[in-house]
Amino acid sequence: MALAAASLPLLKKSPVMAKPPARKLKAALVGTGIRGSSTWGKTLIESYSDVLDMVGLCDINPIRMEYAKGYMGAVCPTFTDFQKMIKETNPDTVIVTTTDCFHAKYICQAMKMGCDVITEKPMATDEKMAQEILDTERITGKKIIVTFNYRYSPEAVKIKEILMSREIGDITSVDFNYYLDVFHGASYFRRWHGLKQFSGSLFVHKATHHFDLMNWWLSAEPVEVYAHGELRTYGYNSPFRSVRCMNCPHKEKCDFDWDITTNQHLMNLYVKAESADGYIRDSCVFRKKINIWDTMTAQVQYHNRVMMSYSLNAFMPYEGYFVGFNGTRGRLDARIYHNQPWKVTSLADFRITHNFKVSQTFSMKSGGSGHWGADQVMQDRIFRKPGPDPLGQAAGSRQGALSILIGIAARRSIEQERPFKIEELVKM
Ligand SMILES: NC(=O)c1ccc[n+]([C@@H]2O[C@H](COP(=O)([O-])OP(=O)(O)OC[C@H]3O[C@@H](n4cnc5c(N)ncnc54)[C@H](O)[C@@H]3O)[C@@H](O)[C@H]2O)c1
Repeated sequence: MALAAASLPLLKKSPVMAKPPARKLKAALVGTGIRGSSTWGKTLIESYSDVLDMVGLCDINPIRMEYAKGYMGAVCPTFTDFQKMIKETNPDTVIVTTTDCFHAKYICQAMKMGCDVITEKPMATDEKMAQEILDTERITGKKIIVTFNYRYSPEAVKIKEILMSREIGDITSVDFNYYLDVFHGASYFRRWHGLKQFSGSLFVHKATHHFDLMNWWLSAEPVEVYAHGELRTYGYNSPFRSVRCMNCPHKEKCDFDWDITTNQHLMNLYVKAESADGYIRDSCVFRKKINIWDTMTAQVQYHNRVMMSYSLNAFMPYEGYFVGFNGTRGRLDARIYHNQPWKVTSLADFRITHNFKVSQTFSMKSGGSGHWGADQVMQDRIFRKPGPDPLGQAAGSRQGALSILIGIAARRSIEQERPFKIEELVKM
């Protein structure tokens, strides 16, 4: 599997953040669900209106969009037709926050219509879409930012700094285990994420974050993936099921019962908008049509001979990740706990052990809302403080593609029961 130096893929630099515009940036948003209306809607309108104007909103669900518009405090027009929105509002940048499988369509349409793009992860859900995005960006000369917020979380930055210092030498292999708990993990099986055709599976939807972190931490590009996946808790595994938690006859005996009616915001955003698209936000986690895995492992080989052993489990008693980097001079262990409620606080324990020496340990508290404070740091970097990027945190289409391609290769590897090369999927 080791590659000769001559055959290493060219490592492209991360995209440099654009210079701050002399006038306000005109942004339009497609996908006014929970992420679009909060992080990319309300937050931008409330905290970045000195540098940005939201000029248009688009969603296929007009009821949700109308509620979201009020929630965000937006004063712009709304559209159910994306191209009409672009023609009438003429934005500089389109922010894409739809269901994952539609990202590629809007990213490409936006660039063809003359706009830059800021897209939520995953950039796309299959290799054809990834190729179309890369080709369209090349042809149109427009630019894509993929918003990998995890790169900005304090513990991820600390890991990057330690690896960049090279104090444990050259990295030879990595153990990376990610745990989603029975609350957050289960939430993926209640929503559209539970169907591969919408999310590309958790190997794409969720693990795109993890694979991107690893690509970035290692400054390396993946070449081959061999994976396994099983559905062991959700979907067909239960002896009972219903359509949704609301009015479920099995409430009393179901550990995964979840009462959406206690959250008025979610009621307004989803339940009251059901008549427009039939989307049920509190679907049963035991629906038989769930076709993603909740238990996954992958072996990933990198261009620089680093081997990664990765796992993702979606029904764990606690949430976080354990990562261990084996280097030629020592080992770095990091154990990150995202405590309950998972999004409010997290605690990271680090251990650095130099060969033939004792370990040094230290802990970090990395609190803050918006993914451990990462969302705000990233948005500041995108909209307010562009410029030097010493850790290479900015991510574009190449980084967006390489992270999803590991997950897509993992999916193909499971389907075809063989190792899958990244170069079989996309021409970069
Ligand atoms: N970076 C992060 O940490 C993070 C966190 C949450 C979500 N996300 C990403 O944000 C995106 C949105 O997730 P969400 O949780 O808000 O989901 P959601 O279901 O709440 O919202 C998706 C929205 O897209 C709309 N939509 C669906 N198909 C569409 C289409 N063809 N055209 C236009 N609109 C369409 C839906 O009506 C809905 O309003 C996803 O891609 C998700 O991966 C990222």
